[in-house]
Amino acid sequence: MQPIRVALGARSYNIYNGREILQELPDHLRRARMGKRLALVTNPTVFELHGYQLRETLSAAGFEVNIFTVPDGEEYKSLESAGQLYTQFAEALIERGTPLLALGGGVIGDLAGFVAATYMRGMPLVQIPTTLLAQVDSSIGGKTAVNHGELKNQIGAFYQPVAVFADTSTLKTLAPDQLVNGQAEVIKSAVVGDPLLFSLLERRMDEIKSGDERAVSSIVYRAAMVKANIVSRDEHDSGLRNNLNLGHTIGHAIESVTDFKVSHGTAVAVGMVAAARIAVRMRLFAQHDLERLLGVITSAGLPTALELNTADVLEAIKHDKKITDGHLKFILPVKIGRVVVSEKVTMDMIAEALTE
Ligand code: NAD
Ligand code: GLY
Repeated sequence: MQPIRVALGARSYNIYNGREILQELPDHLRRARMGKRLALVTNPTVFELHGYQLRETLSAAGFEVNIFTVPDGEEYKSLESAGQLYTQFAEALIERGTPLLALGGGVIGDLAGFVAATYMRGMPLVQIPTTLLAQVDSSIGGKTAVNHGELKNQIGAFYQPVAVFADTSTLKTLAPDQLVNGQAEVIKSAVVGDPLLFSLLERRMDEIKSGDERAVSSIVYRAAMVKANIVSRDEHDSGLRNNLNLGHTIGHAIESVTDFKVSHGTAVAVGMVAAARIAVRMRLFAQHDLERLLGVITSAGLPTALELNTADVLEAIKHDKKITDGHLKFILPVKIGRVVVSEKVTMDMIAEALTE
């Protein structure tokens, strides 16, 4: 597959995408004159499943791989974990020029990305995402972060990787619920910017769910392309990149009021459906396209509605960071493959859409 280019001038990079592509990583590192020492940051789950093999591949090619593991879980995406990595890096004499390879899902990618951005004021970062969500979303675009108290993803930096290696073969070991979770972001990408991806999801969902590698690789590729194109035009999230928040305003509120017991994918799916219902009422989006969206979300194994305390959800939305000067910027679909930002969405409209 042709690499996808994230075009950001001096910070441009490629996303390599496909089956078994980690075999090619040593050649890429050599061509990029990366040096022989590498810092591989991962967690024990991913190391067990894919890290041993990757270390073998790199060692056989003459690289010295220093492994640093962080316990598995969102709670370890913290300043404390970052601090422990800084200490371990210093003890291992990791230098500013040593490439950091972030092998794992979005938690490892965000945390290791933050460490790469800050250790010695910045080391080369290679993202090696191993969840569907990370391959289509979090590894692309340079948002790195840790959580701090109530501040989720609010301590961080924009720090672009030098390359992303999304090996879709690693997804074979993913728990089914994690695959479903990532599907919400794939569907979002299709609605935001790729009608052909949406048709692919409609036609090939059974193959995707059964893990057919060709089908999975094509959706990962197309979804990554949507994100890469948007990030290339709005690196710092000052306009167009907001489009990627389709379903997320309500989604984040649902996660927050349910104490994160509802998964991100489920929350985003319900948020997208609510946004689409609002858009239909505003005569921006066709009823037929809403039906198609409901069909794809359901066939992916995601819900289209949840029993929720609507008042709590509205309260959480009011505290959302995306409300600027009292105006809620809400992303609405206008057709499959195109969204707009609206400031006309009221709390009443959201309440109505959630209870429909
Ligand atoms: P995650 O990183 O916690 O991974 C989910 C689980 O899957 C973990 O237990 C992990 O160990 C396991 N896992 C990873 N790869 C595996 C594999 N190949 N086989 C088996 N198990 C595997 O969760 P996630 O959904 O990948 O990422 C969520 C995080 O991403 C959140 O912290 C979120 O804030 C962040 N995020 C960041 C961005 C961004 O732009 N930076 C965008 C979206 C989400
Ligand atoms: N996940 C949204 C963004 O990267 O902007």
